[in-house]
Amino acid sequence: MTAVLFTAFGIHLAACVLATGAFFLLLLAGLPATGLMCRWERQVLSGARWLVLVALGSGAVWLAARTALFEGRPDAALDPHAIRHAMLDTWPGVVWMARHGLLVVLAAFLFTGGDVSTRWNWIAARAEALVLAALALILLGGSSHAAAISDSLWPRAFDMVHLLGAGIWAGSLPPLALLIYAASRGPGVPDPYAVQTMRSFSRIALVAVLVLAGSGIASATLLVKSVAGLMGTTHGHLLLAKLAVLIAALVLAAANRALLPALSGTNEAKPSATARRMALFIAMEAGLVVLLLGLAGAMTLTTPAAHGDPVWPFPIRLSVDTLLDLPVVQVLAQLRDGLVLAGLGLGVLAIAFLTRRRRKLLSGLAFMLVAGGAAVTLAPLVVEAYPTSYLRPSVTYNAGSIAEGMSIYQARCASCHATRTAGSEALSGSTVDRLAPLTARQTAGELFWLITHGELARGMPEFGSLLGEVERWHVINFIRAFAAARDPRPVGTDVETGRAWLAAPDFNVSVGPLTPRALRDYRGQRVVLLVLYDLPQSRTRMAELARRYGALSVLGVEIVAVPPRASPEAIAELGALPPVLFPVVTNGNEAIVSVYRLFTPGTAHAELLIDRQGYIRAIWRDDLTAMPDPTTIQAQVERLNEEKAPPPIDHVH
Ligand code: HEC
Repeated sequence: MTAVLFTAFGIHLAACVLATGAFFLLLLAGLPATGLMCRWERQVLSGARWLVLVALGSGAVWLAARTALFEGRPDAALDPHAIRHAMLDTWPGVVWMARHGLLVVLAAFLFTGGDVSTRWNWIAARAEALVLAALALILLGGSSHAAAISDSLWPRAFDMVHLLGAGIWAGSLPPLALLIYAASRGPGVPDPYAVQTMRSFSRIALVAVLVLAGSGIASATLLVKSVAGLMGTTHGHLLLAKLAVLIAALVLAAANRALLPALSGTNEAKPSATARRMALFIAMEAGLVVLLLGLAGAMTLTTPAAHGDPVWPFPIRLSVDTLLDLPVVQVLAQLRDGLVLAGLGLGVLAIAFLTRRRRKLLSGLAFMLVAGGAAVTLAPLVVEAYPTSYLRPSVTYNAGSIAEGMSIYQARCASCHATRTAGSEALSGSTVDRLAPLTARQTAGELFWLITHGELARGMPEFGSLLGEVERWHVINFIRAFAAARDPRPVGTDVETGRAWLAAPDFNVSVGPLTPRALRDYRGQRVVLLVLYDLPQSRTRMAELARRYGALSVLGVEIVAVPPRASPEAIAELGALPPVLFPVVTNGNEAIVSVYRLFTPGTAHAELLIDRQGYIRAIWRDDLTAMPDPTTIQAQVERLNEEKAPPPIDHVH
C-alpha cells in the first residue's frame, strides 16, 4: 500500500508541477503570432488537459491509499464511509478537497474551451488557468511534514514557495524543449518568437532556481537540523541525492545559457543545429527534474531527519566539547599552526588574483594550503564515532530509569568498574571514577555502542546479548547522571549566570490520590525548589518553608518536598501548624532520593534549585552549608528570573 501511495503521490506531484509550468510558459510566450507558435500552443494545451486529468486520477488513488494506511486495513481504500471520514475530519483531507476542487474547475475550464479571439480574452483565459493550477500545486505545501511538525507558518510558507518555484522552473522545461525542437526543424533561422520565449524564460528560470534553492535550504534546516540527520538518515540521504541531481540540472542549464547568443544566427554558427542541441539539453534537464520530483515525493514519505534516528556513516566526528574546557590561550596555541597555513593559503590566493598569471597553479596551491590549515586546526576536535553516535535514547532521562540503571550497574558492571552503593562515594581512583570524565564527553549513542559491542581488546565485555536495549539505556542514564555528579566544577550555592548544564532527572510528583504531574511540567512555568528531607532532623526547616511558601510562590517558585520513603502519611507527619500547602511526594520516593543523592551525597537535608529550563542551578546541603534563609533564595530566584531564557534544549546530546 505504501508503494501505491508513493507512486500515486509522485505522479500527482509531477502532473501538478508540469501543468503549472505549461500554463506559465504559454503566458510567457504570449499570444501566438506565427503558425509554428499556434501549433505549439495547441499541442501544449492538449498536453495540459491530459495532465489535469492525470492529476485528478492520481489524486483519487492517493486519497484511497492514504485512507487504507490511516485505517490500517486495505479494504478501507474503497470504503466510502472511511474515505468520507478521511476527507472531512482530517486537515490533510480538507486540503485535499480544496485542491481537487480547484483541479475540477480547471479541467472544466480547459475542456469547455473559451473565447480567446481577442488579446485580452486570451490573457485572461491563460492567467486563470495558471492561477488555478498554481494554487492547486502550492496548497500541497499545506499538508506536508513541515506543516505537521510545527505550529508556525514559516515551514508551510517555505514549502509553498518551493513548490511554486518548482512549478515555474521545472514544469516549463518540457514545453520549452518541445518549442525549441519545433523551431529547430525548419531550415534557416529559428522562429524569432520561440527564441524570444527562450530568452525570457532563461532570465526567469534564474530567479526561480534561486528561490527554489533558498526555500529548499530553509525548510531543510527545519526538517534535518543537524549534520548527523543529513548523513545518517534516509531523509537526509534523499536530500543529498536531490541536491546532486539539482546541480547536474543546473550544469545543463548553464550550458544552455552559453548557447543562447548563437541562436540569433548573427554569426556563421548554424542556429538550427544549436537549437536542436538546446532542445536536447532541455529535455535532459526535464528528465533530471522528473527524478528530482520522485526524490521529493520519497522525502515526504520518510520520517524527517530531525525526528529519525541517524546512523552515522563515518568512523570519526567533530567534538567541540574538547575545546570548551580549554582556556582560550591554549586553544589559540592549538589553532596557531592551522591559522598560519590557512593565512598563507589566503595570501597566495590574493597574489594569484593580483598577478592573474598561472592562476590555476597558484589557486590549486592556495586551496591545498587552506584545506591543510583547516585539517590541522580541526584535527584535535576529531573524535572516534560509531554508527549509533547520534542515536536518540529510547528511554528518557528520568529518576526511575536512572535508579534501574544503578542496580543493573551494581550487578553487572561494578565488579570491574569498582563497587558503589547509592549515596556513598566510590573509592577514589577506582575505575568508575575514571569512567566518569571519559564518558562525560561521549554522546549517549556512543555509550550505547560501547556497552552493546564491548571493547574486547581493552577487556570490556559486550552486553548486547546480556542486557535488553531498554536496560542498556537505563545503565547509560545512570552513567550520565553519575558522570554529571562528578563534574570537576560542581553546582554551588550561588546561581552562576549563564552556566546551566546539570539536567534535573525527571520524576512524577505524585501526591496522594491526585493525578501526578511530572517535574518537567513545571518547565517554562515555575522555578522548583526540590527539598530532600527526613524527619525529625528537618522539622524546623520544613516549618520555616511552610511559613514562607506564600512569599516564594509569588516569586514564581514551587516547592516539591521528597521524604526518603513512600508513605501516604507524609503530609500528616509534617504536622498541621503551619499548614503545608506545597506538594509532598508520597510515591516513588526511593528512586527519586537515590538518584538525587548522587548530586547531594549523604543523608543530610538538601535543597536543589531547578530553573525553568529544567537545570539544577544551586544546591544546599545541611552538612556542608547552612540552609539559605528566604531572602537568599529570593535573591537566587531573582537572578534566574533576570537571566535571558536560553532556548529549551534536549538534555541528552
Ligand atoms: C570484566 C570486566 C568489566 C565489566 C563486567 C564491565 N566493564 Fe566496562 N570496561 C572494562 C575495561 C577493562 C574497560 C577499559 C577501561 C580502560 O581502557 O580504561 C572498560 C571500559 C568501559 C567503558 C569505556 C570507557 C571509555 O570511554 O574509554 C564504558 C562506557 C564501560 N566500560 C561501561 C561498562 C558498563 C556500563 C558495564 C556494565 C553493563 C561494564 N562496563 C562492565 C571492564 C569491564
